[in-house]
Amino acid sequence: MKVVFISPAYPPEQCDFTRGLAQVGASVIGVGDGPRGSLPPRVESALSAYLRVPNLFDEAQAALTIARAVGDLGIDRVESNWEPLVLLAARVRDLLGLGGMSRDTVLGFRDKQLMKDRVKAAGLRVPRSERAKTEAEVREAAEVVGLPLIIKPIAGAGSADTYRCDSVADLERTLPLIRHVTEVSVEEFIEGDEFTYDTVCINGEPVFESVGQYFPRPLAFRSEQWISPAQLVYRDLYDPDRKLRDGIELGRGVMKALGMGTGFTHMEWYRKPDGEVVLGEIGCRNGGGHFVDMMNWSNDFDIYREWARAVCWESFEATASRRYHVGLVFKRAQGQGRIQRIEGMEAVRHRFGQHMVADELLPIGAMRRDWKQTLLSDGFVGFRHTDLAPLREMMGVVSSQVRLFAG
Ligand SMILES: Nc1ncnc2c1ncn2[C@@H]1O[C@H](COP(=O)(O)OP(=O)(O)O)[C@@H](O)[C@H]1O
Ligand SMILES: [Mg+2]
Repeated sequence: MKVVFISPAYPPEQCDFTRGLAQVGASVIGVGDGPRGSLPPRVESALSAYLRVPNLFDEAQAALTIARAVGDLGIDRVESNWEPLVLLAARVRDLLGLGGMSRDTVLGFRDKQLMKDRVKAAGLRVPRSERAKTEAEVREAAEVVGLPLIIKPIAGAGSADTYRCDSVADLERTLPLIRHVTEVSVEEFIEGDEFTYDTVCINGEPVFESVGQYFPRPLAFRSEQWISPAQLVYRDLYDPDRKLRDGIELGRGVMKALGMGTGFTHMEWYRKPDGEVVLGEIGCRNGGGHFVDMMNWSNDFDIYREWARAVCWESFEATASRRYHVGLVFKRAQGQGRIQRIEGMEAVRHRFGQHMVADELLPIGAMRRDWKQTLLSDGFVGFRHTDLAPLREMMGVVSSQVRLFAG
């Protein structure tokens, strides 16, 4: 089994997917844009070969380079779990005539308008939405979509260049801010709670499913520095009170509509106050922000390795224990520069240490991160618990009582 794995060490959790591929018996040919010597040792040791392609983001050119380099090696699979490169992986598959999702199928997971068109055609609920390239088109789209609305890049990530507009005046103020974005989606704003639906699929059938929730919604925590963003992975999916079921059913339908093949999916969906569920977006790759680790902590399994088994051998051998709800809270320091002081963490360790799964705040002396650039902010603290109420309490204490000061 020979697997080309594009971006084997970035984002950081990809190191574990690379390790998983090697563990299930694949020879892994890593493809990255940096020198081999810059790979972490554990990635280096899991690779049987490495191909450096400096222009990975020039999809057509990079695909040709990769296909030429590996064309005679008898490659079985070409994969990537990094959102900006999933189309490249598909293009290489198409060039090599390999199985797996075609470029056209993957486009449905990347182009947010095409995604909604395909999902809507299957009779599922998506936000009303229009594609726009010029200011005039944005204004026209706004007429069709109505207020309040969201403007966002057609293939965005991390809430970048995403704006809510409640009035025509808001819209006019937003236009200059998005001038550098070549194509946008203008969307009906969906009020409500924001969830995830994550799966590992084999030929479109989920062999593992998980539901998470963001607190508050990503657009809100990307806009206000004082917020400690939090996310939760639910223990069990079918608790009637949590009303997760409709989102799971929506997710299954979305994957069918888009022709999901084998691999990870990460979907975001909204539940409106009236209970209606609406698609946010879906990617054919794992969720970031330690969602994969949260699934592991929730289920006592190694889904990095099982993803690899699914991709290589179309099998998934772990049983999810579904034992714990898992919560992570991300912290942002006050002030700029290096972390000088951390308040409240000793008390958290003392009170809740037995439930802690992650204690990863930046250490004193570290440079603080740019909270707009990384969800990880200045570190995070995570817990797991069989019950939701104590978990929410621990998360609340970290949100409100742990403070980092930089200077
Ligand atoms: N139609 C919408 N209604 C309400 N909120 C939205 C809508 N579209 C995007 N958002 C908000 O913006 C965030 C980012 O948008 P999203 O489509 O997930 O793009 P990405 O995560 O790729 O940047 C979402 O998590 C959500 O909070
Ligand atoms: Mg998103």
